[in-house]
Amino acid sequence: MPDPQFYAAVESRRTVRDFLPDPVPQEALDRALDAARLAPSSSNLQPWEFVVIRDPATRQAANAACLDQAPARTAPLLVALVTHRDTWQRNRDEIVRIFESRGPLRPSQTAYYKKIIPLIYTTGPFGLLGPLKRLASRLISLFKPTPNLMTREDIRIMAHKSTALAAATFMLALRAEGYDSCPMEGFDPWRAKALLDLPRGAEVNMFLAVGKRSETGVWWDRVLMPRAWAVREI
Ligand SMILES: Cc1cc2nc3c(=O)[nH]c(=O)nc-3n(C[C@H](O)[C@H](O)[C@H](O)COP(=O)(O)O)c2cc1C
Repeated sequence: MPDPQFYAAVESRRTVRDFLPDPVPQEALDRALDAARLAPSSSNLQPWEFVVIRDPATRQAANAACLDQAPARTAPLLVALVTHRDTWQRNRDEIVRIFESRGPLRPSQTAYYKKIIPLIYTTGPFGLLGPLKRLASRLISLFKPTPNLMTREDIRIMAHKSTALAAATFMLALRAEGYDSCPMEGFDPWRAKALLDLPRGAEVNMFLAVGKRSETGVWWDRVLMPRAWAVREI
């Protein structure tokens, strides 16, 4: 049986651009953040970070970085979703550490986390190895299916994909808590990066304005592309 509560959360999620001032309770926020941390990620590397902006001066600067969009201006809470391109080794080590704390690694875990992941993600000094690996995988792919042995740019894309899934999970969890959100890609990426003091390999994936919708919070009726443009069965 389908779960009606799940579909209710999905269907009632809308992009909200005008919020009530009511604060988001910490417990609801924490539950939604912890649900988002369960999102799938490439090789389970969880290349994301949720930056909950509390400091008033930082918030003001973040609103400006979000081009002073209405959702940023009116939301009681602003969260930045950050992607990390360079945390794969640290996170791989943590996965291995946790597996090992539960018992000896299985051969499949050793092969995946100690051999395959380094092969796919290592890009060498200044990322110079990346293009060579990519070319090699393209050539091998002419003869047999092969994974993309990644460049730094590929890892960046991987990190953005996984982080966007965490963002989607977060927005749905907020909905399940009775809260709304607005994902925002309309921001100044350089200012946002400086503001959040992000390291080189990190970027803001999107900002999320969070709170409860006001009466005028949803600006437009929902518009969907024809199903046939979105779904194809072959
Ligand atoms: C990655 C992404 C970036 C977006 N950026 C903005 C934004 O900067 N400002 C905004 O008002 N809405 C933004 N939106 C919201 C979309 O406009 C919205 O999801 C779309 O119009 C569909 O409406 P719905 O979410 O209510 O179904 C963004 C959505 C996504 C997924």
